[in-house]
Amino acid sequence: MDGNGRWAKKKGLPRIAGHKVGADSLKEAVKTCAEAGVKHLTVYAFSTENWKRPKEEVGFLMTLFSQTLDREVAELEKNNVRLRFLGRLQDFSPELQKKMKAAMERLSKNTGLNLNVMVSYGGRAEIVDAILEMRKDEVPNDEINEETVGKYLYTKDVPDPDLLIRTASEMRVSNFLLWQIAYAEIYVTEVLWPDFRKKELLAAIVDYSKRERRFGKTSEQIK
Ligand code: FPP
Repeated sequence: MDGNGRWAKKKGLPRIAGHKVGADSLKEAVKTCAEAGVKHLTVYAFSTENWKRPKEEVGFLMTLFSQTLDREVAELEKNNVRLRFLGRLQDFSPELQKKMKAAMERLSKNTGLNLNVMVSYGGRAEIVDAILEMRKDEVPNDEINEETVGKYLYTKDVPDPDLLIRTASEMRVSNFLLWQIAYAEIYVTEVLWPDFRKKELLAAIVDYSKRERRFGKTSEQIK
């Protein structure tokens, strides 16, 4: 969800104003995906590196996560959304962890859109955590393969993403789902996240629908 800071700067506002409007874009993205029949939406809300941002910005984001949860859980429930926070949840304050876990528990039985919110998340950290877990479980060498590794990632029961959307013209992966995006289709838009609304999201999905996904095969083979 890139470009919150730039959006605010363009308007002469503090960076946090961009995050606040960015939360509205997220709400709209969830609604749009649910309506469009998307089964999984995974958003990058806070990276392992974001802890290094100025203290005030980190503090504001924590408050925003907490307030958004208070405000939106009932609506998510109504819309049959299954919410999960994935990442190093242990890095958050005990209060916020409690709130995240309570929201996940409350929405865990829902059968509509799966909303995965990546927090204190890094693709490399996730792979390191998976290796540590595999060692703890003493997984034998001959059982270590791509499928097994996938089962030790935070996203164990989430299919690999079909479409990766990058807002604010970012042409890099920024440590997001490094393992899972091996064959994701990438869509880059100059639109900043606070302006990325229903119209922009549907345009990305339409663009995706025109791609030819070959997964390493030839065009003829996939016909
Ligand atoms: C990146 O833009 C955005 C973030 C680090 C925060 C994203 C959080 C939200 C959109 C708030 C809503 C989320 C939840 C889960 C309620 P940036 O700050 O790097 O923007 P810039 O690249 O323009 O500086």
